[in-house]
Amino acid sequence: MKTLFDLRAKADSQLFEAVQSLYDEPFNIIRLGDQPITACLGCWNCWLKTPGKCAIKDQMAESYLDYVKSDTVILLMDTAQGFINHQAKAFLDRTIPHYHPYIEIVAGECHHVARYQRYPDLIFYYDQEGLTDLEEQVVEDYLYRTAYHFRSKAYRIKKENNQKLYPLEPRKPGNGSLAFASTDPINKLVIYSGSPRRSRSNSGEILKKVSEALGDRVEIRDLKERDKWGEWSEAFKHERDVMFFMPLYVHAMPSHVMDFIERLEASAGSISFFIQSGFPESSQSHYLEAYFEQLALRLGRTYLGTAIKGGVEGMQLRAPKAREKMIEPMVRAIDTLVSEGRYNPKELQKLAVPVRFGLIVTGLFKLFARLGLVNSFWDKQLKENNAFERSFDRPYN
Ligand SMILES: Cc1cc2nc3c(=O)[nH]c(=O)nc-3n(C[C@H](O)[C@H](O)[C@H](O)COP(=O)(O)O)c2cc1C
Repeated sequence: MKTLFDLRAKADSQLFEAVQSLYDEPFNIIRLGDQPITACLGCWNCWLKTPGKCAIKDQMAESYLDYVKSDTVILLMDTAQGFINHQAKAFLDRTIPHYHPYIEIVAGECHHVARYQRYPDLIFYYDQEGLTDLEEQVVEDYLYRTAYHFRSKAYRIKKENNQKLYPLEPRKPGNGSLAFASTDPINKLVIYSGSPRRSRSNSGEILKKVSEALGDRVEIRDLKERDKWGEWSEAFKHERDVMFFMPLYVHAMPSHVMDFIERLEASAGSISFFIQSGFPESSQSHYLEAYFEQLALRLGRTYLGTAIKGGVEGMQLRAPKAREKMIEPMVRAIDTLVSEGRYNPKELQKLAVPVRFGLIVTGLFKLFARLGLVNSFWDKQLKENNAFERSFDRPYN
């Protein structure tokens, strides 16, 4: 079965026909573009309470069976602000039930273990109009990366004279194309907090410490407060120093963060970013960093840089002292940014260790995995939820 998910706001039957002409078999067409796909809440019920099943009941969850049963999934997406838009991002975030929380190392990076025996090829379509060449590359690299971690072959349908299908190639992320700049010491840094979690958010915990240390030199705004988005996007036009702080979600920002970013207009001032992720290696965040560099250019703002800290999931299960030890350098990096108007490269370099795992750590990881120590973090929580017996369920097989 081949399924075409149309995630675009406007349906376009001409495009359906052009894409269909690339295949012999008729598609199963599912239109998800006309109503919002609910953003992933980060609750992890799909891993720890009802393995393989999402807690959100909407049209996205209703189409999981079509996704898993297909040998080919075609995604028609809109772009906005130089990236895939929040609707497409929500779709990708909501695919995590199809993977296990369990981890394995592939080429020096953590991957989630496959829940199903096979996954569909992923065919991406987005209109390159409105994207700069670099943005187009950032989007393509991001989609390749996501498909690679999803264990799917990646292709893109691109409009040349006609629609053409071609495989996406692995490429290094384009981060580092824009140097970190500096500004005057910051009087007030507005920090947008991008975790969708309602409780026990790691971002929330870290930013609480930032607020305690920096007092009124920072103002923290939680992007879950959607009713304030109009006021905040208006304020962005004249607020001098703004940071986006967020967890990494499927190699990029959570979809509601993208939704907010789409509303921003070019304006004077500085912009900085802070990404914290579950996997320990900072390489996981490089594709998002590449996008943020382009975003700073698009918004006409001075790019102060992107700080990256991995290994944050599980932070709250640490003993209080160990938790403090983990949070302290993150607070310091933001303090430096505010006091000096620039990130300190040495501080960021330390935060970003390890960039990838070397052979020794990979070997030790394999040994610990064999001893059952690697995934005990997840097994403990599955047992607490009486879900351990169901942890290998494949609800859509
Ligand atoms: C839908 C989803 C996708 C995620 N994707 C990634 C990822 O691609 N790489 C990674 O290292 N961590 C990923 N994580 C883990 C989060 O980045 C990590 O748990 C983070 O600390 C959560 O922060 P918060 O509690 O502030 O939301 C993901 C988590 C969720 C729920």
